[in-house]
Amino acid sequence: MGTALVTGGTSGIGLAFARALAARGHDLVLVARDESRLEEVAASLRTEVRAVETLRADLSVRADVQLIADRLSDQARPVDVLVNNAGFGVHWSLTTADMTAWDEAYEVMVRSVLVLAGTAARAMEPRGGGTIINVSSVAGYITMGAYSAIKAFVTSYSESLANELKGTGITVTALLPGWVRTEFHGRAKIRSSSIPSMLWLDSEPLVDACLRDVARGRVLSVPTIRFQVLTWLLRHLPRTVVRAVSRAISSSRRDSLER
Ligand SMILES: NC(=O)c1ccc[n+]([C@@H]2O[C@H](COP(=O)([O-])OP(=O)(O)OC[C@H]3O[C@@H](n4cnc5c(N)ncnc54)[C@H](OP(=O)(O)O)[C@@H]3O)[C@@H](O)[C@H]2O)c1
Repeated sequence: MGTALVTGGTSGIGLAFARALAARGHDLVLVARDESRLEEVAASLRTEVRAVETLRADLSVRADVQLIADRLSDQARPVDVLVNNAGFGVHWSLTTADMTAWDEAYEVMVRSVLVLAGTAARAMEPRGGGTIINVSSVAGYITMGAYSAIKAFVTSYSESLANELKGTGITVTALLPGWVRTEFHGRAKIRSSSIPSMLWLDSEPLVDACLRDVARGRVLSVPTIRFQVLTWLLRHLPRTVVRAVSRAISSSRRDSLER
């Protein structure tokens, strides 16, 4: 089955990808910053027949991204599946003068996605195939600050990469989750109680649905009918309506941010 490299493979959606790909027979390379957690997750997934490697890397640091790119380029140890998943919620004002948070979000969720997917594609091309999954978000279809802009980039970039790689045997899929129960909201200090319970998804069925979409060669994966309807509306409603909805969610979120 080959080897899958998952960034952010120690928690939430990335951990669900790691487990699902291991269950389908892949060896794993897990990437994250917290070394002890990496080792713990690796030990839980490693078996006599399945190798699990760990690479500690902070994807906001370019030298660390290069380390992962070097691993993806190693033709002696081919990586057949790349899951660009690491990321986090951001909600600072767009008029802030301090660019620190933007720089970190840009490095992890834009630049590293571009570098790692490009590197993986160059390594996969001579082998005649491979799978690239970029974890984007439904938030890319609304207008909720830098996070929406970043995820709009990830979706658009993934569609362009799929076009560029058409005919090479390499598939590219952007996964667009809605709200998923992970550590994401706690880390971003967003109280999850502000989000209606019917809109929450679990990582495992989300990832299973995504892997089914990947097998069907779909470029965009939007798991669950609820979010398919929602994204259809977001793509077809007048933008004035989309902006008004975004303003309403943003202001309720501002009120619910933990202080
Ligand atoms: N949860 C949602 O509602 C939701 C919805 C739509 C899209 N998404 C997207 O799904 C992806 C995964 O999020 P999640 O919900 O699973 O969050 P999560 O549970 O907080 O997991 C995030 C993972 O990314 C790793 N990570 C974070 N920053 C990193 C960095 N600088 N370098 C390397 N690894 C880093 C974390 O490990 P370390 O902290 O050890 O580095 C962890 O393994 C993100 O791209 C997010 O934008 C989430």
